[in-house]
Amino acid sequence: MLSFLHMCGISGIINAKHAADFLSGALDLLSTRGYDGYGIAVQGSGSIKVGPKDLKTLQEKVAQNQLTGVTGIAHNRWATHGIASQQNAHPHQSGPITVVHNGDLDNYQELKKELIDLGYTFSSETDSEVFAVLVDYYRKELPFFEAVEKAILRLGITSRFAFLVMDETTPNTIIVARRGSNPILWSHDEHTGITYLASQSSVFHGYVQTYQEVPEGHMIQFGINGVEQTKNFTGEMVQEFKTRVLDTSHQVSEKTGKHWMYQEMKSAGDTIRNAIGRRATLDQGIVLGGIEKPEIQERLKKINRFIIAGCGTSYHAAQIIAMTIEEVAGIQASAIIASEYIYRTTVFDPETTALICISQSGETADVVRLMTEWKTRGILMLGIVNVPDTQIPRLTDAGIYCNIGPEIAVASTKAFLGQVVCGNLFALWMGQQRGLSVAKRNEYIQELLDLPAKADLIFEQESEIKNLAEKFSQVKNFLYLGRKYHAIVAAEGALKLKEISYIHAEAYPSGEMKHGTIALIDEQFPTLVIAPNDSVFKATMNNVAEIRARKGRVIIISNPDSELVSSDDQIVITIPKTSEFLSPLLTVIPTQLFAYYATLALGYDPDCPRNLAKSVTVE
Ligand code: AGP
Repeated sequence: MLSFLHMCGISGIINAKHAADFLSGALDLLSTRGYDGYGIAVQGSGSIKVGPKDLKTLQEKVAQNQLTGVTGIAHNRWATHGIASQQNAHPHQSGPITVVHNGDLDNYQELKKELIDLGYTFSSETDSEVFAVLVDYYRKELPFFEAVEKAILRLGITSRFAFLVMDETTPNTIIVARRGSNPILWSHDEHTGITYLASQSSVFHGYVQTYQEVPEGHMIQFGINGVEQTKNFTGEMVQEFKTRVLDTSHQVSEKTGKHWMYQEMKSAGDTIRNAIGRRATLDQGIVLGGIEKPEIQERLKKINRFIIAGCGTSYHAAQIIAMTIEEVAGIQASAIIASEYIYRTTVFDPETTALICISQSGETADVVRLMTEWKTRGILMLGIVNVPDTQIPRLTDAGIYCNIGPEIAVASTKAFLGQVVCGNLFALWMGQQRGLSVAKRNEYIQELLDLPAKADLIFEQESEIKNLAEKFSQVKNFLYLGRKYHAIVAAEGALKLKEISYIHAEAYPSGEMKHGTIALIDEQFPTLVIAPNDSVFKATMNNVAEIRARKGRVIIISNPDSELVSSDDQIVITIPKTSEFLSPLLTVIPTQLFAYYATLALGYDPDCPRNLAKSVTVE
C-alpha cells in the first residue's frame, strides 16, 4: 500500500528555445505545492536558487536572460529536511549532476557520512543533495542511466522519491525516477521535439494537449525524441504508458488585484452561479450528468447511508453537505475527517453505503489514502472536486466537478462555496429520487438561483467589516460560535482567521460553550457569533447573553429581520436571508472578509501563509 508523503513541485523541459521561460512559469503554477524555496537549473548555464517567497527575484533574473539554454529542471520546495532557505532550495548539484527531488530518503544520514568519508562536501541540510552526490560518485565509472539506477538501489527501502536528474556531460537529457511519491507527468511534442515534465498537469496548458504519467517504480530517460530508455526498478515489466487528454476548462485567470484571496472571495456571486451552472432549473429540476450513468443510478437506489470525507475547509463543506442530505433527502449522512478514518475501524455495508470525497485540489494525501483503502472494500465512491485530472476524481466511480475555475490562494474561500453548492445540488438530486415534492424542490431551486445576487450584496458592507477586522486584529484569541449549520461556519471562519492572520481562534457549537469554554470569556476575549434568523436563532442568542453578562464583546452575523442592534459590546453585521440549509453560503463570506482584513492589518501576506501549501500531498 502506497502512502503519499510528499509535497514540493517539480518541472523540467528538454530541447526548448528558452528552457528557463517555461520553468519560470511552472514555478508560479506549482507554488500550490510549496514556497519554502525555488530554483531553476539549465544545462550549460548553471542555476539560480532563492529562499522562501522570493520567486519574483528569480523570475526577474530569468527575464534578464541570466539562464540561457534548452534543457532544464526546476523545483518549488515545501521544507522537510532543513529549514526554508536559499541554501536548502533545489536544484542540488554535485560535479556534472543536478537533481530536483520530491520525497524523503530514509538512509540519507548514513549515505552522507559515507560520501563525506570519500571526500565529498555538502552545502545544504537536505537529503536530496545526498542523492545528487551519490549519482555524481557513480557517474565517474558508469554511463548516466546506470549511475542513476545504482544510486537508487542504495536508497533505503522506505525512501520515497520523484527525481529529475540532469548530467552536464549528457546534453538534452533528463532522467526521471519515481517511487511512492506524487505523480510525475510528461508530454513529448513530436512537431517541436520538446519534452515537458511536471508534477501537475496545469503546467502543460498552452504547450500540449495530452500527457502521460511516469508509472510507479519506474525510471525513464527522456531526450530529444521523448522516451529513450526505461526501467522498472521494482523488477516487474515496464508498464504501458496511458495517454490522458489535458482538461482545458480549468485555467488560471489574470490576477486583477493585489491578492488572489481577495479576488476569489469577491467572486462569490459568480462562483455560486458557475457551480450551479445549468444543473438546477425550475422545469427540469436537478440534472447531474456526472452521476446519472445507469450503473451509478442503480447503485444509488440502494444507498441508505452517506459517509462524506474531507480535510480542513473541505471537511467543513462535508459537514454541511451531510446535514443537508439528511434534512433535504432524508438519508442518513455523516462527515468524517479523512486523516482520522485512515486509522479507525469503520463499519459499513458496501451495498448500502456510499463515500463522497470532497476536495478542492483533488490531490489531498489523506483523502487519497482513505479512498485507496476503502476501494478494496467495494464501497461506491463519489467525489465533489474542483481541479479536474487529479487523483481523487480518478479514484471515484462518479462525481460532480465544482466548475468554479482554479483557486490559487492557500486559504480556501471560493472552493468552499463551490463544494457546498455541489453538495446542495446532490442533496436535492437525491431528494428528487426519494419523494421530494416538485413544489418544495422548486422553492429550493429558486432560493439557490437567488443566491449569487445576495452574495454580491454582502460586499456593500466590506468597509464596515474591514474596520472591524482592523479594530480586533490586535487581540490574541477569538471565539467563534454558531449552532447547527452555523456551528460549522464558525469552525470554517475560525480556521480562516488562524491560517492567515495567526490569531488563535477557537470554534464551538454555541450550546456547548457553557460546558467549559465560557471560562475563557473576558473583555480581552471577543466572540464572533454566526446567528442568522433561523430555527436556532433564539437558542444562540441565549448564549450571546451569557457572553455579554461576562463582559465579553461580540460581533454577530445575522439577518435584517432579526432586529438586532449594535451597541458598545455588540456589533451586528446583517446579510441577506435565505433558506436555512443554504445560508452557510452567505454567512461564511463576512468571516472570510474579516480574516482577510485582520491579516492585512497585521502586515501578513494572506495568499502565502507560513508553514502551509495549497495542495497538502503530505500525510
Ligand atoms: C483551508 O483554507 C485550507 N486550504 C485547507 O484546510 C484545505 O481546505 C485542506 O487542506 C483540504 O484541501 P483540498 O480541498 O484540496 O482537499
